Amino acid sequence: PKVSLTGIKPTGEPHLGNYIGAIRPSLELTSAYESIYFVADYHALTSVRSREELASYTRSVAATWLVLGLDPTSTIFYRQSDVPEIFELTWVLSCVTGKGLMNRAHAYKAARDRNAEAGVPDLDAGINMGLFNYPILMAVDILIMNADVVPVGQDQSQHVEYAADIAGSFNHLFGDVFSLKIPEVVLPAGSSAKVLPGIDGRKMSKSYRNTIPLFAPEKQLRKLVRGIVSDSTPLADPKDPDSSAAFVLLENFATPETIKEMRGRLEQGGTGWGEVKNALFETLNDWLSPLRERYTELIAPDSELDGILAAGAERARDRARPVLAGVRRAIGISHL
Ligand code: TYM
Repeated sequence: PKVSLTGIKPTGEPHLGNYIGAIRPSLELTSAYESIYFVADYHALTSVRSREELASYTRSVAATWLVLGLDPTSTIFYRQSDVPEIFELTWVLSCVTGKGLMNRAHAYKAARDRNAEAGVPDLDAGINMGLFNYPILMAVDILIMNADVVPVGQDQSQHVEYAADIAGSFNHLFGDVFSLKIPEVVLPAGSSAKVLPGIDGRKMSKSYRNTIPLFAPEKQLRKLVRGIVSDSTPLADPKDPDSSAAFVLLENFATPETIKEMRGRLEQGGTGWGEVKNALFETLNDWLSPLRERYTELIAPDSELDGILAAGAERARDRARPVLAGVRRAIGISHL
């Protein structure tokens, strides 16, 4: 069967954007694809600077996958850092990747733009080599597992495309080691869902601190949903649902009937954003509150999480080893 692969970086509590962009589509693909999903903890090291945070966010991301339905017996599920083959191959592919390609990568360019906006004279100030090399490590995640499809949010699609470029460079120099298939980006269905907005209306992102964590306690969830930006159009006035972050969020989680009904009333001018937020809170809470207890059990230090990830790492390494061996033979380093 074809392989579906994706990863999530443990840089914060997993949020609704991660769910819509990656987790939901990934879980949907498990019935038709062989699935390989992981916690990209060494990717998080480009920004996380606290061992407690890295450790706890790693548990949060792993527990979230499991609670939302990932079955670790059918899916290969692991921590990236437990698969050393990935890091050896990252060095090899760094040596065949043009620096110019990395100069054009979105995350690096965005970091430079932030410096420019802040008036920092050296545009590379504060940017570490991990951030710069980030797309190479991500290409390896994809290539070492021979992925066919990569379900991600739109912000990651350039990185997935880079994997094909990098594999092509290697093959051009050393022969057809990587299969020439181009890993296909799978974006979430529905146009409004490609980039889920956060509570300030911008893209929901850990770096904007505008996220709604999936497993926020009920009180916090209510507070966050109430705090979603909205304009002050009077209740009786017609409104454009698509201009509202609260409505776009509701659209991604509620039933088609609820969405249709709410849209109709907003457009006619029979209700306000407060009601949209109430409906969103109820929808999210009804879905997530039965799962909170299991989540709390799994993130506890002595839970079965570690055993599950260790077993997954063994399976991941079994797949990675022959790929790395083929690369080593192709480049002339084959003494193993
Ligand atoms: P990360 O951890 O930033 O995000 C995880 C996934 O969530 C998606 N996402 C969103 N989708 C829709 N709307 C949003 N507001 C939103 N915010 C986040 C992201 O697009 C992503 O799919 N580099 C990756 C992790 C990674 C990876 C990989 C992914 C490492 N290696 C190999 C795929 C294949 C990242 O930082 O995702």
